[in-house]
Amino acid sequence: MLVSATEMLKKAKAGHYAVGQFNINNLEWTKSILLQAQEMNSPVILGVSEGAGKYMTGYKTVAAMVKAMDEELGITVPVALHLDHGSYEGAKACIEAGFTSIMFDGSHYDIEENKAKTEELVKLAHSKGVSIEAEVGSIGGEEDGVVGAGECADPDECKTIADLGVDMLAAGIGNIHGQYPANWAGLSFETLDAIQQKTGEMPLVLHGGSGIPEEMVKKAITLGVSKVNVNTECQLSFADATRKYIEAGKDLQGKGFDPRKLLAPGAEAIRETVKEKIELFGSANQA
Ligand code: 13P
Repeated sequence: MLVSATEMLKKAKAGHYAVGQFNINNLEWTKSILLQAQEMNSPVILGVSEGAGKYMTGYKTVAAMVKAMDEELGITVPVALHLDHGSYEGAKACIEAGFTSIMFDGSHYDIEENKAKTEELVKLAHSKGVSIEAEVGSIGGEEDGVVGAGECADPDECKTIADLGVDMLAAGIGNIHGQYPANWAGLSFETLDAIQQKTGEMPLVLHGGSGIPEEMVKKAITLGVSKVNVNTECQLSFADATRKYIEAGKDLQGKGFDPRKLLAPGAEAIRETVKEKIELFGSANQA
C-alpha cells in the first residue's frame, strides 16, 4: 500500500522503533525489499537517490514500476516511495512524478537558504499529500555524487528547520555514507540527544545505516531516531552472492546464465540483509 511516510514515522517515534529506508536500483531490488517487508509485516521506505532515478531512466519510470509492483504483489504493509538527498529541482520533479515522500537536502546551503527552500517545498509537498525530510549538518562520505564533510548538526538549526513542518529530519551526528573507516569516532549521542530535546516529537533520520554497530543503532533509536537509511549493505550482499554464483561456475551450468537465475542469489541476499535490519530496527509486525 503506497502511502506517505508521515503516519508510519509518527507511529515509530511513539513506539520507539525505526522504519528502514532501503535504497533501490532496479526491479530486483524493489521486489526483494517489498516481499521481505510484507513477510515481516513491517512498514518500509523505498529510497531513490537522484543517480539511481536517472539509472532507472527517470522518476516517472520508478513511480510507475513501484506502484504497479505494489499492486501486483498484493503488498498490504505501508510503503513510501521516497527521494533520497534530493535537490530543489529533483524534489519538485518527484512530487510531480508520483513519489509519496521526498527529501530535500539543503544542508550545503547556508541556514537561511536551506530554510527558505525547505519552507517552500513543505508547502508544495503537503498540498499533494507527500511527506518531506530535510537535512541539517551533513552526512560524511559520498553517496551517488552527494558529498558531505560530516559535520555535526547544530541543535538550534535543527529546531528552526523542524518548526517549518517537515515530517522527518536528518541531522549529521558523525554518520557517514558507505563503509565506515577503521578509525571512525562513532555516532555523537551527545548531539543526537540535544537535537531530540530541541525537536521533541520530530522523527529523526539516521543516514549511513550500513556498518554501524548494532548497539549504536539501538541507542540511536532510544534517542529519537525513527528512520534508518541503508544502501551500501544491500549492495555488498548482492555483489557477494552474485560473485559466489559466478565463481562457482553456476552461470555455465545448464541455463544458469538466464538472468532470472543469475540474479536470484543476489536478490535473495538483499532479502536477508533487509530481514536483519528490520529485526534490528524493531519494525516487524508494526504495519
Ligand atoms: P549507506 O549506503 O551507508 O547505507 O547510507 C544510505 C543512506 O544514508 C541513504 O541516504
